[in-house]
Amino acid sequence: MSQPMYAIPGSVAANVPVEAVADPTVAPVARTVADVLAQSQVEAVMDELDHDLVGLAPVKQRIRDIAALLVIDKLRLNQGLAAQTPSLHMSFTGNPGTGKTTVALRMAEILHRLGYVRKGHLVAVTRDDLVGQYIGHTAPKTKEVLKKAMGGVLFIDEAYYLYRPENERDYGQEAIEILLQVMENQRDDLVVILAGYKDRMDTFFKSNPGMSSRIAHHLDFPDYSHDELLQIGDRMLGTMNYRFGTGARDAFGEYLTRRLEQPHFANARSVRNALDRMRLRQASRLFEARDRELTREDLTTIETPDIRASRVFGASP
Ligand SMILES: Nc1ncnc2c1ncn2[C@@H]1O[C@H](COP(=O)(O)OP(=O)(O)O)[C@@H](O)[C@H]1O
Ligand SMILES: [Mg+2]
Repeated sequence: MSQPMYAIPGSVAANVPVEAVADPTVAPVARTVADVLAQSQVEAVMDELDHDLVGLAPVKQRIRDIAALLVIDKLRLNQGLAAQTPSLHMSFTGNPGTGKTTVALRMAEILHRLGYVRKGHLVAVTRDDLVGQYIGHTAPKTKEVLKKAMGGVLFIDEAYYLYRPENERDYGQEAIEILLQVMENQRDDLVVILAGYKDRMDTFFKSNPGMSSRIAHHLDFPDYSHDELLQIGDRMLGTMNYRFGTGARDAFGEYLTRRLEQPHFANARSVRNALDRMRLRQASRLFEARDRELTREDLTTIETPDIRASRVFGASP
């Protein structure tokens, strides 16, 4: 099924004023890394990324490396040195819920602040947004998506579905060819990120050397450890204005241990879904007490029974 295409404006780091982004007409020519960082306000986004996202150390390091490359490029440009627009197309591989979409959004913002793309928005699509059902429908569809993504990041989820070798006249091939052209010719204003499972992406790259050669950065998103998942749960609850009551965090830890052993575990996404169900149970519990005045504490606390009622503990769903 087709997922809705959504465009997200570049202001991921809402607490950094947009006006603060470097304006080459007023800023003095940058000569130091610090100048570029200050002028672009890119450090604020990188710090946010470090801080908001649990774990992902290798991914965060790769993003710093890419930012460093762009900063140095800018300084080279300011010295009149040859600056070849680096290719920044990427692949983000990992299991569901490992943070690929979330990091892509931050990446779009970083590339924008460093002046690599004009707008810094992210357009997320799947095969169905690019490929038509009938002859002649694919090219206009793909071009329409590319037009929307220009000046930002095009995020193609489960990109390998574009290639269906078992189907001789699959229109996905047409979409791939258009993408390849644009990835080469307009790489100064569009970054394409291909996302999906690692093994399927490897197979896709093997059969599509043209695509493989245009992807400069491969970022692997590992599964989260139990402890990281627990920390992610804390973060999510905090931003939703909830907290664990006495013993509830331990119960949630136990929930995770059991849930990790079950099929279809989807990392941070499963944590989010579990918390949503726990909030439902909390609401039902509070709803029973018709006449009781509910305090702030009542309204914000997830209690142990809200967790233990889950079917992973053997209770009915
Ligand atoms: N490292 C992390 N720290 C905190 N929250 C995370 C982290 N990784 C993912 N999330 C959250 O988990 C959910 C799923 O992440 P998402 O980026 O959609 O994963 P993917 O695209 O890999 O399937 C989102 O709500 C996201 O905010
Ligand atoms: Mg995703």
